[in-house]
Amino acid sequence: MADTLTIGGSVREGPERGWREHPACSGRLLGMTTIAVLGAGKIGESLMSGLLHAGRSPEDLLFTERYPARAKELTAKYGVEHVDVAGAVRRADVIVVAVKPQDIEPLLDEMAADLPSGKLVVSLCAGLSTALFERRLPEGTRVVRVMPNTPMLVGEAMSAISGGEHAEDEHLRLVEELLGSVGKVVRVPESQQDAVTALSGSGPAYFFYLVEAMIDAGILLGIPRAVAADLIVQSAVGAAAMLRSDEGHPVMLREAVTSPAGTTIAGIRELEKHGVRAALIDAIEAARDRSVELGRAHRED
Ligand SMILES: NC(=O)c1ccc[n+]([C@@H]2O[C@H](COP(=O)([O-])OP(=O)(O)OC[C@H]3O[C@@H](n4cnc5c(N)ncnc54)[C@H](OP(=O)(O)O)[C@@H]3O)[C@@H](O)[C@H]2O)c1
Repeated sequence: MADTLTIGGSVREGPERGWREHPACSGRLLGMTTIAVLGAGKIGESLMSGLLHAGRSPEDLLFTERYPARAKELTAKYGVEHVDVAGAVRRADVIVVAVKPQDIEPLLDEMAADLPSGKLVVSLCAGLSTALFERRLPEGTRVVRVMPNTPMLVGEAMSAISGGEHAEDEHLRLVEELLGSVGKVVRVPESQQDAVTALSGSGPAYFFYLVEAMIDAGILLGIPRAVAADLIVQSAVGAAAMLRSDEGHPVMLREAVTSPAGTTIAGIRELEKHGVRAALIDAIEAARDRSVELGRAHRED
């Protein structure tokens, strides 16, 4: 089952295509699969761009977009064909839904009218359950829900995926490969998607917030803003690279720069005094609760 995949009744042979080597991105499953991106906004465009950078041919991609001018611009930029929703769901093997959650209802109606049974639908829509897609699309539609994040724009996304009722292991592996072209992918039970939304979906915003506060501290200490920004952003990049390395345990890394009676421990005492750790835990819990609340708007149970 490594070189062929059955989607919507068609068996695709999977010749290698120079796909970027990545643990979840061997290029074997996607093969000559046609992928349609419905809604080429920020996330949809990033995915198309990532797939092309990973070696996928523009002929294997399709996209839909409401504004003709934007569609023309994207076709000129990437050489990918713009189609309507009916054309996308009929022609593509994998349909990636990347519209805002509030735009999903009319799109599901449009998709349902033409979607052949058994196709793979990959939803990037925050808070929308696989059950919603299964209810509204033809019986047997294979649905995989994804929570990506904005670093997808620079090929460094963290995506968590969960399969719906009809999604099998091979479909999850295909989605891992698809999203592996724009970052890292993990599988989680769908019941954890609200927590994932709070952690890695909102996570980049919390790092941006910390960086912003540290740059302000630099200004307070008399460092010009541009220099403070350089100092902090590069420190964040370096710290992230260390965290990602094999010896990247956060506690050990912090202890290594916290010397007795030194400068770092003086700063850490202030962070502890102000309850920063508890504040972060509370912030992430509040984000999880808000995700649950937003999801209720689309639940019928
Ligand atoms: N950005 C993030 O940080 C992030 C993180 C995780 C998950 N997500 C999820 O990713 C999805 C996309 O987010 P985004 O930030 O990329 O939003 P976006 O920039 O607004 O992109 C959505 C695109 O879909 C288009 N669209 C809407 N309905 C359509 C339809 N029926 N047919 C074709 N195109 C349609 C929109 O066109 P118009 O311009 O006409 O509205 C827009 O270009 C959302 O569901 C979001 O929850 C986003």
